[in-house]
Amino acid sequence: MKPVLLVTRRLPAAVEARATRDYDARLNAADAPRSPADILRLAEGVDAILCCPADRLDAATIGQLPARVRAIATFSVGYEHIALEAARARGIVVCNTPDVLSTATAEIAMLLILAACRRGGEGERMVRAGQWGGWTPTQLLGTQVSSRRLGIFGMGRIGRELARMAGAFGLAVHYHNRRPLPPELARDARYHADDAAFLAECDILALTAPGGAETRHWLDARRLALLARGAVVVNVARGSLIDDAAMLAALHSGHIAAVGLDVYDGEPAVNPGYLALERAVLLPHLGSATVETRDAMGFLALDGIDAVLAGRTPANLVV
Ligand code: DGY
Repeated sequence: MKPVLLVTRRLPAAVEARATRDYDARLNAADAPRSPADILRLAEGVDAILCCPADRLDAATIGQLPARVRAIATFSVGYEHIALEAARARGIVVCNTPDVLSTATAEIAMLLILAACRRGGEGERMVRAGQWGGWTPTQLLGTQVSSRRLGIFGMGRIGRELARMAGAFGLAVHYHNRRPLPPELARDARYHADDAAFLAECDILALTAPGGAETRHWLDARRLALLARGAVVVNVARGSLIDDAAMLAALHSGHIAAVGLDVYDGEPAVNPGYLALERAVLLPHLGSATVETRDAMGFLALDGIDAVLAGRTPANLVV
């Protein structure tokens, strides 16, 4: 008999095909969002759960999961939606999908940098609205990206991939992390242990650090003020890293010239202040959204579950 796998959302066809081949897979063909109560109901008789970032696996939910559940794999690199301590206490192994999404997510960071600096969103809206009257010497003048300074907060895999891409655009890369990277990983990027020294070096600030309590509202009014006037900020990490009220105030005062966001605090809700701002480029959490990346994420999540159920330690172990 195949082990039973609960899959909380619809996954790419190739991933569902493998899940169905190897498991008695409970899929979600309608792709309906699952509440914690839904997950508990559907987890009866299940050996493992393949969940997604929008699922809330908090301590109370994990505490009530059937004893049979041995593994939770999230279809994401981020795992702040899973109560790790509660999982550990229950002996449930948690895994995620690192590495395979770094390039796709860094591409979206680059897209936001280019669109925010070169006013891509405004231009696109103007053309679509039929409001473009033709080329003029002063229309939608932006900021050249090449040869500016890019600050990366969170020099993990996604940050390093962004640094690699930024090099091709002639950006000088600075980064702020808990620790400096070994030289072979840092390459030309310059480390700043101190956030004030780091922020003073950023014409463009990219947020690529994990979400969670430690980074909640990291970019607050104090740190925004440490950026040079006219700086551009992009966020492909988690919406929780930005204090939206402080960011909107900085955008309104002109201290921040433009913002590019792929993630939002409390998403899918988006702070209405951003919607009203021409200088905000807003994407719907597209970071890892390529066919090859989403397939790879699904396969990696399944690899993790396969390993746990076979009594091995998964390569993508979180706890
Ligand atoms: C992740 O993997 O954490 C992303 O946000 C989803 O692409």
